[in-house]
Order: sequence, then structure tokens, then C-alpha cells
Amino acid sequence: MSLLIQHIKSLVQVRETVKGPLKGKDLGVLPAIEHAYLLIEGDRIAAFGPMSESPGRAGKVIDATDRMVFPSWVDSHTHLVFAASREAEFVDRINGLSYAEIAQRGGGILNSARRLQETPEAVLLEQAWARLQEVIGFGTGAIEIKSGYGLTSESELKMLRVIRKLGEMAPIPVKATFLGAHAMPLKYRENRSEYLRQITQEMLPQIAGEGLADYIDVFCEKNFYSVEETERILEAGARYGLKAKIHTNQFHSMGGIQAAIRYNALSVDHLEVVNETEIAALRKSKTLPVLLPTAPFFLNDEHRPPARKLIDAGLPVALATDFNPGTTPSGRMSFVLSLACIQLRMTPEEAVNAATVNGAFALEMGDACGAIAKGYLANVFITKPMPSVAYLPYAFGSDLVERVVLNGQVH
Ligand code: NIG
Ligand code: FE
Repeated sequence: MSLLIQHIKSLVQVRETVKGPLKGKDLGVLPAIEHAYLLIEGDRIAAFGPMSESPGRAGKVIDATDRMVFPSWVDSHTHLVFAASREAEFVDRINGLSYAEIAQRGGGILNSARRLQETPEAVLLEQAWARLQEVIGFGTGAIEIKSGYGLTSESELKMLRVIRKLGEMAPIPVKATFLGAHAMPLKYRENRSEYLRQITQEMLPQIAGEGLADYIDVFCEKNFYSVEETERILEAGARYGLKAKIHTNQFHSMGGIQAAIRYNALSVDHLEVVNETEIAALRKSKTLPVLLPTAPFFLNDEHRPPARKLIDAGLPVALATDFNPGTTPSGRMSFVLSLACIQLRMTPEEAVNAATVNGAFALEMGDACGAIAKGYLANVFITKPMPSVAYLPYAFGSDLVERVVLNGQVH
């Protein structure tokens, strides 16, 4: 079955080849073809170019006059499996409590863990499926989902099985990350090494045995996991062939970036607080910085990831939602782009590149999705009538995705 989208006002993110994550000046260049066609055969992109070269016929033809076509967003960092929302903590923060204070008294991640532990797998799946459907409607066409609200062998495995089922059911690629070290369960606060033993000697072997995770993650942060603990977990993960994608530098700079680099981490995520030494270390590594601007926005944290500094240092930043019940109850990538432009001073072109090509590299899928390139997965979205690329992050409250095409099928 073939699908031809024609009379496209602008076909965005077209590439002959995608050699690696985009950085420096290249990050600011977003190649597009005006008045274009896109031909999809089966689930792959077969051809594209100016309308004058359109084949004109196909199994199905869509007219996209006045509309733009983008490759689907690649959301490389989410926690979209969770059991309950946490708006009571949102109100606590309005009344003056901080995220750290809420966590210290057993709220936050531990609150989510209690709720998840008592929720049956089937219910978790149903709720997460609804969220996944929602974000697909927002234009997301590949996603990473983390565990980390289980915090026991049984519940971490339960979460990872839900993620695996989501991947089997979903029309988009789903990558799974094991985040057993998300918070320290209350009962191990005085015996941290016992919980680390469970992660490395009980959870990891089972997870690896069942092939339930693609990556391993740790929340490296004051009052969560130290650098030393992070390294122990990354080392154990590496023994099972799991590359690292870690949460670090969300509130403090304490050496998490350097530790991640020592273990050849695929990405370091958050980076609200970063110093020059860390930027220099990242420059010498292949580890990608993934920025999550909706998290400090939602927490109203004064620290924002220094995107300009990172980009000007030649680093290939990616953007993701961090969709989770505590710090970003939203999986809307277009809003992430808006904040990246408004608060991080990224240009619209940089933001689109960071949310597509670079997002795909943050999931080791840069050769398969995130761009309009021959042979790439035909996951794209068609916008509503729109004057320019910049209009997308500019019109931050509008839903500009009109139609979603996944694996060459119109949804
Ligand atoms: O990426 N910071 C750690 N993890 C999540 C928040 C988790 C939560 O509050 O439930 C994040 O922001
Ligand atoms: Fe996160």
C-alpha cells in the first residue's frame, strides 16, 4: 500500500543522509522543501521532492495544501507509566513547600511508588495506554518510557512488563529504561546498600534475563543517589549490556555528568545546573545532553538548562518531555519546543532538530526515525494550516497537529 501526501506547503526536516546528532551551526539549520510531495510505501518513506516531480498517483492520496509535514517527535525521556496523578503536591508547592521538602517527608516519587505497588498490572496498562494514545495525537512517533515507580523487584518488573506490552501494542517504537534507583525506599534509608544489592543482584539479572530493558537510569542527586552509588549501578548495568541514560544535575552539580561519561552513557538528562568543567567534559564525550524544560517550568525552579551555552560549546542537545506525575504532567512535545524557545532561547529550527533528529540519537534510532529521509520509518504528522515553522512554538496554546501518519497508515 502506498500513500502520497502532496501540495505540502513545507516538508520539514528533509535529509539525504543523517550522519549523527546535529550540533553547532548545523543544529540551527532545518532543511525543508517548499510545495512538496512525500511518497510512502508500506511503512517506509520512499521518495520526496518538489511537487513538480510528484508521481501524482498512489494507493491513497492526501492533499496537504497550506499544511506542513514534519517527522514525528522523538520523545527520549518519559515516565508515562504511573498509577495516580499528584495534584495535591502541586497545591502543596503553591502553598510554599518545595519539591525537596515534599520528597523528604515521603511524598514525591515515594508517593507514586506506594500507589503503583498496589495497582494491578492490567490497570497500569490501561492508564498508560490512554496516555500513550494522547501523546501520539500530539505528534510523538517514538518514545522512551522508564520504570522507577516500583522500587521493589516485583513492582519494577511489573512496570517493565507494562512498558513491554505498550511496545507490542503501540504503532510507534517504544524503548524501555530500568530506573530502579529513582528514590530510596523509606525502609532502606538506614541500609542503603541493601537496596543497591537488590537492584544489582536481584532486579538486574531478572530484567536482563527477560530482556525487559534497553537502558539503565539512576537519579543522581542530593538526597537521592550519590555519584558513587550511581557508578555502582551503571557498572552492574554495563555487565548486563545496558547503556546508561541518567537523571543528573537537576538541582545540584555533584559529578553525575562525569560519572555518566566514564560509563559511556548514551545521555545525561535534565542539566538545569551545569558548570564549565562539566560542559568541557561533555565536549570530549559522545554522551548527549537531553534537556527537559517543562520540569523546571512546572516546579517554577529558577534554574533552567543553559541551552545556549551548551549549543555554543558545540554540543548536540536533544529535547524531551519528562512526562511524569511529579514534575511534568504533560507529554506535549510542542509545548516543550515553546519553552525551549521562550526560556532557553533556542531558535525554532534548533528546537525542531533537538526534538527529532537528536531525540532519535538519544534512543539510538538516528538511522531509522526523526527525519524525512529515504528508508526511514514513515512516522510523520500533518499540521493544520500554518504560516511558518516558527509559528509552531509561537502558538504555544494551539494544537497544530491535524493528522498523524504512523508506519504509513493514517490515524
Ligand atoms: O525527571 N527527577 C527525577 N524524576 C522525575 C520526577 C519524578 C517524580 O517526581 O515523580 C523527573 O523530573
Ligand atoms: Fe525524568
